[in-house]
Amino acid sequence: MRPTPPVFTRVLPLLTSPPEQPDLDRGYLDLLGGRPEAPSGPIQSFWESGLGSGLYDHAQSLARRVIPGWFRLPSRARPPVGGRVLDIGCGPGNFTAALGNRVGPSGLAVGLDVSRPMLARAARTATSDNVGFVRADARELPFPDGTFDLVTSLAALQLIPEPEQVLAAACRALVPGGWLAVMVPTPHDGMLHVVSRLSGNRTGLSFFDPDDLAEQLDSAGMGAVHTHRRGPVLWFSAQRTA
Ligand SMILES: C[S@@+](CC[C@H](N)C(=O)[O-])C[C@H]1O[C@@H](n2cnc3c(N)ncnc32)[C@H](O)[C@@H]1O
Repeated sequence: MRPTPPVFTRVLPLLTSPPEQPDLDRGYLDLLGGRPEAPSGPIQSFWESGLGSGLYDHAQSLARRVIPGWFRLPSRARPPVGGRVLDIGCGPGNFTAALGNRVGPSGLAVGLDVSRPMLARAARTATSDNVGFVRADARELPFPDGTFDLVTSLAALQLIPEPEQVLAAACRALVPGGWLAVMVPTPHDGMLHVVSRLSGNRTGLSFFDPDDLAEQLDSAGMGAVHTHRRGPVLWFSAQRTA
């Protein structure tokens, strides 16, 4: 039997139900096993394909050039050195790895995604002793309440059905005083919005209204709610009060 890589000796004890025989064969912890994927729409189907995940790096670096705010975490939501961070919908894991650098060797950054090809890339390029990746569905977070000092999610929530449910779970996963920082593409009346409306929302994408989000976070027990639009993306952050 192969030894468990150091990062997973730190991730496994954090799980609500740690598996007796963790599936680490592909370099990430797979908690969905053979469970079939049910992509939420054509865009998510693409990110779950080998081709989509292969092209994602190009798409992401283009998006980061066009939208400089993509990876810019709000300054008040910076992770503490030694802290624990969860990155929901981590894709190829480069932002998770950057979070790992910020928290330092005594901290821990966990990237969570459903896409096997994305996680395979993340495992290959971004895993380290304090950065690890988990295959799980964001709608069923595998961590108990009060586990993380920071929960981030960049450009993923718009793809997940019932995003309100994911947000509420993300808030619960925070320690009191912990921060949530989320970025979602949110065109005002841009092309995507129009296409999505015309196609009867067959794109599977959700769009977010800053006022609705603020209300939702408020009722999830979050304080210091702040929403900020940077071009075609909306960042929002909030702090768990208790
Ligand atoms: C556009 S990519 C963003 C990746 C990365 N956060 C970034 O900023 O480059 C969206 C990611 O969300 C993931 N995703 C979609 N639905 C998910 C779900 N239900 N649970 C976890 N991850 C999901 C996709 O597989 C994909 O890797």
